[in-house]
Amino acid sequence: MRRLFILSTMLFFLAMGGFWAASVWLPEAPAASGAPNPQAAPTPQAAPTPQAAPARQTHYTLSEVARHDTRNDCWMAIRGQVYDFTRYVPQHPSDPSVFLPWCGKEASQAYRTKSKGRSHSSYADQLMIQYRIGMLQAAN
Ligand code: HEM
Repeated sequence: MRRLFILSTMLFFLAMGGFWAASVWLPEAPAASGAPNPQAAPTPQAAPTPQAAPARQTHYTLSEVARHDTRNDCWMAIRGQVYDFTRYVPQHPSDPSVFLPWCGKEASQAYRTKSKGRSHSSYADQLMIQYRIGMLQAAN
């Protein structure tokens, strides 16, 4: 009886030691729920949009801008940046005859003065950011 007690006590401690050793040396099992696995491939959203970043670094000359001088294809260079305002043309609040002559041109001053000495709001400044397609190439 005494021998059985000693044997089962030893077995008990051996089993406890085994569990402890396993918890120390074995790698942690991946979570069973939908939790993200750090070793898994990155999700598609994490990857940068392939075209977005380089487009902003593209340089355009004024003669390239000048090729886009119509209501249906309207680029402008303003303060060293190039914008494609084609989608914005129908939304501009002034009469189109005020905005359209600046398609295909360097329009910094026109933008600054609205062609009549009043500056655009900071809302307009924010609005134009989304139409930026690149930078103006400095003339040689
Ligand atoms: C470069 C040529 C441009 C000219 C000559 C021009 C001219 C004008 C004029 C005459 C007005 C009308 C009323 C007023 O006196 O306030 C106006 C308003 C406005 N324009 Fe332009 N604009 C130009 C470009 C732009 C661009 C590129 C944007 C933005 C994408 C823009 C956004 C606005 C907005 C939001 C208003 C309402 C008033 C304000 O927030 O300042 N405009 N603009």
